[in-house]
Formats: sequence, structure tokens, C-alpha cells
Amino acid sequence: MFDKEIYRQRRLRLREQMKDGLVLLLGNHEAPMNYPANAYRFRQDSSFLYFFGLDEPGLAAAIDLDAGAETLFGEEATMDDIVWMGPQLTLREKAAKASVTGVQPFAKLAETVQQAVKKGRTIHFLPPYRAFNKILLHELTGIAPAAQKESASVALIKAVVALRIQKEACEIAEIEKACKVGYAMHTAAMQLCRPGAHESAIAGFVEGKAIAEGYMPSFPVILSQNGETLHNHDHSQTLTGGRLLVIDAGAETALHYASDFTRTLPAGGRFTTRQKEIYNIVLEANNHAVSRAKPGITYAGVHLEAAKIITLGLQALGIMKGDAAESVAAGAHALFFPHGLGHQMGLDVHDMEDLGENYVGYDNDTQRSQQFGLGSLRMGRMLREGFCITVEPGIYFIPALIAQWKQENKLSQFINYQKAEEYIGFGGIRLEDDILITPAGCRLLGEKRIPITVEEVESTINS
Ligand code: GLY
Ligand code: MN
Repeated sequence: MFDKEIYRQRRLRLREQMKDGLVLLLGNHEAPMNYPANAYRFRQDSSFLYFFGLDEPGLAAAIDLDAGAETLFGEEATMDDIVWMGPQLTLREKAAKASVTGVQPFAKLAETVQQAVKKGRTIHFLPPYRAFNKILLHELTGIAPAAQKESASVALIKAVVALRIQKEACEIAEIEKACKVGYAMHTAAMQLCRPGAHESAIAGFVEGKAIAEGYMPSFPVILSQNGETLHNHDHSQTLTGGRLLVIDAGAETALHYASDFTRTLPAGGRFTTRQKEIYNIVLEANNHAVSRAKPGITYAGVHLEAAKIITLGLQALGIMKGDAAESVAAGAHALFFPHGLGHQMGLDVHDMEDLGENYVGYDNDTQRSQQFGLGSLRMGRMLREGFCITVEPGIYFIPALIAQWKQENKLSQFINYQKAEEYIGFGGIRLEDDILITPAGCRLLGEKRIPITVEEVESTINS
């Protein structure tokens, strides 16, 4: 945990931004895998972590905005708990670590909420995403799970986003640690990358690097020679010379701050000329975005600049054609770059996605596009100092998508379908780094950039 004063200050700022009512912040509970005592690795709710730091199941908190009182709800450990899990702090001791003085048994939460409901006070809660908390919230408020997302408090969502989006120095230090382990994960993978190696062996090693640090992966490792499938978690193939291996993986520190990096490797140790041509377009888009990101411009604008580099690069290879600006405006590049340039990163690898992507990545000034590709951009809003975001352009040749667009003759003034079809089987390339927006621009997060040029990647694989 950080110092208890950090959590107290965060709650104070939350209270300053909210008017009245009762704020409910629900921690997570154990989630059984296949029988109750065999649970998934516990992951605390990120907003609960942000305001209370207590990383264990079975807790909830209420902040009474009118009385200014804060209460932690939980159970005291039983002797059975101590026998199976070792010595435990009392609830009051746990609360003290987060500078909270009020404690109540978990069962009292219902009484607290119901009293507030009876008095007609507003109950502010965040959109729940786990079944346990949906059922609990139903019991507490009477709001059915299906209606909870739209009943969640917009005021609370906005206040939480406003605080969590701007990273504090202690948070940036944690993200730096996650990036350092991300570096180790990716360079380890590069050293295992050779024909005959199994994807699953590399994936296991990559995850193991995070776990060996006392960390965990920030999301299930994406690792596949079929990198044209954007989130490919299938690791069942053997590496074959001539193919590309996309690895998208990051670490989450013990305090749960994330990193998120993608590198694309030549499975045989050397890129072919054709692979290099596409690779260097993606690299240029990544470098350009890093050189452009700064406070006061929108990330949607940076995304479109990256899209233009991809368009020009693919035009030079004869895969795209026509006026580049018109092509980008029409979204023709999305046939090859169907996702967004990046997302916020922090206590979640897609930071605060549970609160609603549009509250995090968009605001009144920047609305989300409906266009295919651009509509997948999670983060479009104006950049501000203290944002941590990913930069992850890519080029993919997705057979089904190419076939569909060709059949519809979609945007054929900008796409040379015959040429695009020559790349079926190429796979995909994505190159992802993490940046911090600084007063005048941005900087790459991590002590060292993970090898990224063709030469750096080849020499790391072959070292
Ligand atoms: N790293 C996976 C993603 O950003 O969606
Ligand atoms: Mn990412």
C-alpha cells in the first residue's frame, strides 16, 4: 500500500467533487473457479484500491457525503481463517492502514444503505461488473442487475475518472516498475523465439517473468503467429521460419499498476523484405505518435495522423491508393488498422474501462466516432499532463474482412484489393509502447525502450 495519507487525500478530493448522498465503493470477493475453495487469483476492484488500498476480499466502504463519515465494512477473521491463512489483522487495524476510523460488520452495509434509501438520499455506486457485486447491489438497493449500469451514479463516475486519470508521482513510479518487468517479459520472449519453439512455452515464460517478480500479467498474454486476430490467446502452434509472432503482454505490480507492450518478432530470427516493409510503416506510425502526443491536442487527432502514415506507407506498396487525406477521412485504412491507437493505463490495463469507456476516453469536446476502426478508439479526448496512455498502431491482413470489403466493393477508390489479397497469410504487426504526457510533450515509460527497430529485434533474438 501507499502511505495512508494518500488514500485519505484521495477521498477528501472525491468528497470535494461530490455534492450529497451516500457513496458506496464495493470491494471484490473471491470468485470460485470450479468449486468454492478453489478460487481464481484474487483481484481487488481498482477504484476500491485507489481510495482504500486494501487488497483483500470481502470488504466494502461507504462515504457519507453529508456527514463526512467514512466506514469500512468487513468481517473479523475467525480461528479457521487464521488456521488456514495465517495471522490476520483486525478490521480496525485494516481500516487504520487506509486512515479510516469507522468500521462495521459487513452485514451492517444493508442497514446503512436501506436507512439512506428510506430518507430519500442518493446512493452513488459505480457500474458493477462482477456477478457477486451485482447480486449484492440488488439486495442493497433493490435495483435489478440488468438495470444497474444505467442506474450507476454519473456524478461518482465522473469524479472518480477525474481523479484517477491524472497519475500521481507515486503511481507513475509504480507504472515504471510494471514497465521494467514488461521489458524483461518481452526480451525473454525474443530470446526464446526460434523455429520449432512452441508458442505456449514462450507464453508461459512471459507470464512467469511477471509472476517471478511477485507481480502478475496485467491481462492474459496475447501471443500468436496468427497476429491478424487482434486478441489471440491461442498458443497452440509451433514457430515456423518466415512467419511473424505478435506478443502483446504487460505486467501488473503488487499494487496493481499495469504496463502493456506489444512487439512483433520474425519467428525465424530475420524479417523478410516484405515483412520489413510493413513493419517499418507501423514503427513510423508509433514513432510519429510519440513525437506528436502532448497536452492540448486530442488523441483522436494523433490516431488520425498515425492512420495517415499507415495509409501513405500502404500506398507506397501499392496496397492502397487515392488521395491520402480523403482516404483517412473515409476510414479506408481501417481495413488494415481496425483498432484504436491506444487507451488509458493505470490500475487497469485499460484504465477504468469498467466505469464506461466514453467517460474515460471522451468528453463533451470530443465525441466517439461511429466509423469502423475509429469507433474502436478507446481514448480520443484532449491530452493532459499526467495521462498514461498506450501507443499501439498496427497493420493486419484479416482474410474475412478483406473478403467482405472486396465483395461490397467498399472504398475501392482507396484500396487495391488484388494487391491486398497477395498479403493473405501475412498475419499482423502491432508495436505498442506506453507514454506519460508531460508539460511539453510526452516521454516513453520504462527505463529502456524494448528493442523495436528491425535491427534491434533481430539482434536480440539472435544474441
Ligand atoms: N493489450 C491489449 C489491449 O490493449 O487491448
Ligand atoms: Mn494496449
